[in-house]
Amino acid sequence: KRVAILISGGGSNMVALVRSMTGDHPARAVLVASNDPEAGGLVKAREMGVETAAVDHRPFGRDRAGFEAALLEPVLAAKPDILCLAGFMRVLTPDFVQRFAGRMLNIHPSLLPKYPGLRTHQRALDAGDAEAGCTVHEVTSELDAGPMLGQARVPVLPGDTADSLAARVLAAEHKLYPAVLRRFAQGAREPLFLP
Ligand code: GRF
Repeated sequence: KRVAILISGGGSNMVALVRSMTGDHPARAVLVASNDPEAGGLVKAREMGVETAAVDHRPFGRDRAGFEAALLEPVLAAKPDILCLAGFMRVLTPDFVQRFAGRMLNIHPSLLPKYPGLRTHQRALDAGDAEAGCTVHEVTSELDAGPMLGQARVPVLPGDTADSLAARVLAAEHKLYPAVLRRFAQGAREPLFLP
């Protein structure tokens, strides 16, 4: 299976995914693309020998469709079977999502359906939650709401700040996403729960 990964920033999830696709893994990373040409993850991808592409979304302003048409060029050229959104911070239009229906995954840093959207860790702290975590789901046109493919739970500890909790969740993301992708690439769809 050919996997394209979309990033917006440092790409730590992308690195974990690329590093997991070795040996008898049924998938290989064929492209890392970003909406930010300065995304740090692009350098890491190149260092790992993965093809990269960048389409700056800013010149397109509110023309979401125009940005996506430009992004689709290198993405389709890579002929991906699966698309992984990994720290990708742009909302995709239903047209783009439809094109990859059933084969586009995203990782969200909360135990969905709790805390869709942004600032998930602060919201969990404000709510006094004892647990937090991350969710891998299929991407549908409804933001952060597609069929769940996996979840990893972490404890909220006394004295946690949004940053300390984010770091603990991010470490869990780096375990969950590669495990879910491997199963997804083998055709499994029942959700995986960690630990
Ligand atoms: C992190 O907040 C992570 O929780 C979320 O996207 C952000 C950046 O992740 N999935 P990455 O390091 O770019 O993968």
